[in-house]
Order: sequence, then C-alpha cells, then structure tokens
Amino acid sequence: MPAASVALDIGTYSIKAIRAKAGAKVNVERVVEVFNETGIALPTDDASVAKLGQMIDAVFNDNELPRTDVRLALPETVVSTKVISIPPLSDAELASAIGWQAEQHIPIPPEELSLEYQVLHRPEKKEDAQMRVLLVGTRKRMVERFIGMFNEIGIEPTLLETQILAIMRSLQFTQEDPTTLIAHMGSSSMNLAIVHKGELQFVISHMNGGQMLTKALETSIGLDAAQAEQYKRSYGLDGSQFQGKVRDALLPPVNMLLTEVRKSVQFFINQNPQETVQRVVLSGGTSMLPSLVQHITNELGVEVLIASPFSGVEGAVPENVNPPAMSVCMGLLQREET
Ligand SMILES: Nc1ncnc2c1ncn2[C@@H]1O[C@H](COP(=O)(O)OP(=O)(O)OP(=O)(O)O)[C@@H](O)[C@H]1O
Ligand SMILES: [Mg+2]
Repeated sequence: MPAASVALDIGTYSIKAIRAKAGAKVNVERVVEVFNETGIALPTDDASVAKLGQMIDAVFNDNELPRTDVRLALPETVVSTKVISIPPLSDAELASAIGWQAEQHIPIPPEELSLEYQVLHRPEKKEDAQMRVLLVGTRKRMVERFIGMFNEIGIEPTLLETQILAIMRSLQFTQEDPTTLIAHMGSSSMNLAIVHKGELQFVISHMNGGQMLTKALETSIGLDAAQAEQYKRSYGLDGSQFQGKVRDALLPPVNMLLTEVRKSVQFFINQNPQETVQRVVLSGGTSMLPSLVQHITNELGVEVLIASPFSGVEGAVPENVNPPAMSVCMGLLQREET
C-alpha cells in the first residue's frame, strides 16, 4: 500500500497539515494545526529558513507525518496569478508567445521569473472568440529557498501549487455553479477570486486579515492579545454580546475588508456587464467570525456560504478543527497527479 500523502499549508497564524490518502476520493487520517510561533509563512533569509524549517520538522515528527508525498502551497501574496485573453493559438504557438505575454502581465523581471501556465478556455475556431490562459508567476530565488528549506529536513516536495488553485479544487466547482466570489481570509492576508462558469476569472490578494481584527480589539477595548483573540472568536459581530462593544470595534476593519470584496465584484461586473456575482464563499480561519455571514449577506445582498472542505470526505476529521481553515490542504490532497 502506498504511504499516505501530506498536504501542508504554512500560514502566518498556524501551520496546517493533513495526512491522507490523496486523489479524487480523499481519505483523511490525521488533521494537524499548530500555532506558527515564527509568524513566518515564507522565509526570506537563512535565519528564517532555519527557524521555520525546525518548526516544520517538529510538526512532522510529533504527528508521524511521512515525508514521501509532501504537497505544498505558496501564499498568494508572493505569487502573481493572472488570467489573460488572447487570440487563439496552438500549443506550440502559445509556448513561444508565453514569455512575451508574461512580460506584459506579470510584474517580475524575466530573469527572476518562474512561470507556469495553463489553457483555461480555447474557443472552437470562432473568428472573434478569445482564448483564456492562466499565468502563474513566482520569483525563482524565493521558490528555491522555500524548497531548499524542505530539502534540509529530508523532504522533496512532490507538488507546489498556489493557494487559490488548491482552494478552488477543494470547492469542486462545476460549469453550472453560480458566479462565485471566493474570499479566503487568513490572518495576515485575504485572497479574493471570482469563478464564473467554473472558470477562474481573476485573483487579487490583500495584506490584511484576521490579525487586523484582533489588533482592533486590543486597541479599542484595551485587551491583551490572548483576550482579544478569545473575544473575537466568542462574540465576533454579534451585537447582543458584551454590550455590542466587540462588534463596534470589529466593524471598521471588517468593513475595510468588505470594501476590497466590493471592488472585486465591481471589477468583474465592469469586465462582464451582463453578469453578476451571485454567491460569496468564505474560506480561511477568519470566516468563522461569529455573525460574519449575516453581516456580509446584509451588506452585499448575495448568498454567503462558508467553505466546508471535508463534506463528503471519508476518514477521521476531529471535532475541534476549523474546517474552512483547511481548504488549502484539502485541495492539495484532491489533486490526482503531482
Ligand atoms: N472562530 C473564529 N472566529 C474568528 N476568527 C477566527 C476564528 N478561528 C480562527 N480565527 C482567525 O483566523 C485566522 C487564522 O486563519 P488561517 O489559519 O486561515 O490563517 P493563516 O493561514 O495562518 O494566515 P495567512 O494565510 O494570512 O498567513 C487568525 O487571525 C484567527 O484569529
Ligand atoms: Mg493561510
């Protein structure tokens, strides 16, 4: 029997790992979430490589995670993900044109760029129809450092994917699904993506998330970090709790995040005037903020759901996991080939 696979999502708040039988039908064996005491998701120098590497090594040891098929996600904040529309080209033509296309759309100098691409849509020979291609650009040195950190602890990653692609897979979109905005809200980042007819339209990432909410509680109510975290999780936007003080403190930063969501919706509508965004799916740890779903529903007037990446999945999912925080790991595991 092949050894189980491991999916790893290193967040600035927590490191998440799932050991499972991977593929179309994931069978979960173990779910791990460990507070990331380094606060680093992606090392930028040798010192942080050592610190984070050591922590990950301990996570593997403590939780009996095999080091054979290890699948990783790159934070969207260091990736440039673009969907471009161009006149239809054959695979060979595209291969030779892609470098130039990347230069137009990806803000990374060619000599530093590591580029991957995928045809999302190829029209059937209609004169004016465009083909859509997904470009994913990263900085070579950063990726090499990241992989090097794993090599040091005896791991040769089998897959390196960007978070949003993993999240999309975990949500299992079909062409028939309503146009959906995914808001993946972590601790120090929020990634927004729109999926229309099952196809990714664009991705935008912002350097703000749940940590900003905790900070707001610390400063406006005068709580320490641990208390603020606790109040945030217990009361959130529920105005009937704690005389509405927690809600009042959280509303400004939450609405700041919502402004970004609105901008993305508007951007999509500008590009597709006949369409609307019909649904918002929340993912990431912050989506569990009490009364957030209701608040967004009221503000945006669309259906709001929380991602449930374990639904229909077999195996052992402990009660205390925060499911939407696990969508990246589940998406990595659902990939059939690495
Ligand atoms: N029940 C809850 N209510 C509100 N916020 C929560 C809840 N549970 C977790 N969070 C918040 O979710 C965030 C962690 O989410 P997540 O694990 O997705 O972040 P991360 O991946 O570590 O961060 P990032 O991807 O931004 O580096 C923290 O800010 C945490 O306070
Ligand atoms: Mg994250």
